[in-house]
Amino acid sequence: MTVALIILAAGKGTRMNSDQAKVLHQIAGAPMLAHALRSAQDLAPARSVIVAGHGYDAVERSLADFAPEAVVVRQEQQLGTAHAVDAARGALEDFDGDVIVLYGDTPFVSPETLQRMAEARRDHALVVLGFEAADPGKYGRLVMRGESLESIVEFADATDEQKSITLCNSGVIMADREVLFSLIEAIECANAQGEYYLTDAIAIARDRGLSVTAVSCDEAETLGINSRVELAAAEAIFQARARRCLMEDGVTLQQPETVSLAFDTVIGRDTVIEPNVVFGPGVTVESGAHIRAFSHLEGCHVSRGAVIGPYARLRPGAELAEDVRVGNFVEIKNAVIDEGAKINHLSYIGDAHVGATSNIGAGTITCNYDGVMKHRTEIGANAFIGSNTMLVAPVRIGAGAMTGSGSVITRDVPDDALALARSEQVNKPGLSRKLFELLKLKKKKLSLEN
Ligand code: UD1
Ligand code: MG
Repeated sequence: MTVALIILAAGKGTRMNSDQAKVLHQIAGAPMLAHALRSAQDLAPARSVIVAGHGYDAVERSLADFAPEAVVVRQEQQLGTAHAVDAARGALEDFDGDVIVLYGDTPFVSPETLQRMAEARRDHALVVLGFEAADPGKYGRLVMRGESLESIVEFADATDEQKSITLCNSGVIMADREVLFSLIEAIECANAQGEYYLTDAIAIARDRGLSVTAVSCDEAETLGINSRVELAAAEAIFQARARRCLMEDGVTLQQPETVSLAFDTVIGRDTVIEPNVVFGPGVTVESGAHIRAFSHLEGCHVSRGAVIGPYARLRPGAELAEDVRVGNFVEIKNAVIDEGAKINHLSYIGDAHVGATSNIGAGTITCNYDGVMKHRTEIGANAFIGSNTMLVAPVRIGAGAMTGSGSVITRDVPDDALALARSEQVNKPGLSRKLFELLKLKKKKLSLEN
């Protein structure tokens, strides 16, 4: 079955109290709109059309990052959900197949649920996604007769008897493209809210003798986000699910509820994650690594057997080979660290390459930025960088080379050489005692004066 997606995302989201378009607010490091798109990826949609209105430009820009293949169409005025779907008509004119309507602010519909809708579509012209609501509140109600969905009644238009129905409309709907747009053409706005309701398509389809059914899913899947409080609740749901998946896949989370994951975090079996670790987007950790407490990782790769942290920061482009050690208060950015290298304390390694089994002493800094441009530092294998070395890039440290502690290295160091770049030490016999006496005398004099 060929399917296209229409994702409605034009609403203002007043209750977010934000300058940003509602659907761009993030869950686990990705806009909620991206989550909605991902939920349908298993159906391999041939086309994705996003209907945007409020914050159109920002939505379009953001899509260029996470779904460049998606088409964005504009709904100038928000005149209702049917009007919104109609805005996608032009973009799908030449599309032959089924359309699924999803919502940019409803990010958790599961791939399995969409699969069940696709299966129900084999026997019915229209399939609607419903859920049993614990508190049906203002949701549209599904009026069923056996298997058949007779109509959807919006809360504002419902009779008391209809309000007592607990099977509610998620808004998600699936139908053949031609059928759907033909139904929408017939929808009018003579209702309590004066809007074009997509839900009216059901009664119209029934009048035309089409068969309509509803598939039911867990209420948690249809969670819509309208406020920051609901956004935080959605984040918690995502995190709980992602942590459980990792543990089932053989990852140890010592205190799961303190670990923050991103939508795309990948962690291999038998890796141990200590408490309070944050994963930003784009992190892959191989099997058998150990991420110690309070570390922050984003856009990086950690190989088998590596030990990171506590208190380490891995930034985008950090590529750590097997058995690398990165200790406390070490920041690594855009740098390849080869097998077995150690950077254990208080260092910044940026725009660099560190050769295998090299040892980077405490307080080492790659001075990669001259205020205008970034430069690279190359360190060969088996090098030993003395504590508090400043490596002023661009600079090359040869294999097996050594730098003296406190050196400011501005020129390349050949293989196996020792580089010393600091002033020579001078000892003045007895001078410290004299200095102390002088200072104590001065202090006494000052206290007498006051
Ligand atoms: C809709 C359903 C209701 C269902 C509920 C589930 C209709 C008429 N009602 O009601 O049966 O129980 O969702 O949450 O469909 N949107 C646009 N353009 C518009 C109008 C809406 O893009 O002109 C988008 C909104 O941004 C939002 C979604 O469509 O993401 C739903 O719109 P909303 O106004 O929240 O619909 P409800 O009144 O909640
Ligand atoms: Mg509404």
